[in-house]
Amino acid sequence: MAVLHLTRKEHFNAAHRLWNDRWSEEKNNEVFGKCANPHFHGHNFDLHISVKGTPDPDTGCIINLKDLKKIIHKEILEELDHKNLNIEVEWLSHCIPSIENMAISIWQRLLPHLPPGVELSKIVLWETHNNYVEYYGE
Ligand code: NI
Repeated sequence: MAVLHLTRKEHFNAAHRLWNDRWSEEKNNEVFGKCANPHFHGHNFDLHISVKGTPDPDTGCIINLKDLKKIIHKEILEELDHKNLNIEVEWLSHCIPSIENMAISIWQRLLPHLPPGVELSKIVLWETHNNYVEYYGE
């Protein structure tokens, strides 16, 4: 049976700050630079979510795209869009909200909501035109 990867692109805006509480202000500024700004800073994030599966013979689709959209909106976008990621998002409160940690947390949050037979295969999170991370669940 053919296995395909299907990707949905989404977008959200959010603010964050890279800061390690265990470090001095000097060290935070040295390591994170402008990203340590105590007043936070914003990004226009692009999020690509890929799932893997075999097309259902009745629909020709791996997953109903309306369902996938609904899951992503409810679990991720409503939680992150126009939020302060350091303060307002309980499921990011355990980590520094870098794009690396965000991608891992987004993966963990989506995983239990996918229908049987559909696997999460990749999450790509763009922070700027120059920087993005890819996560494959390892
Ligand atoms: Ni940033």
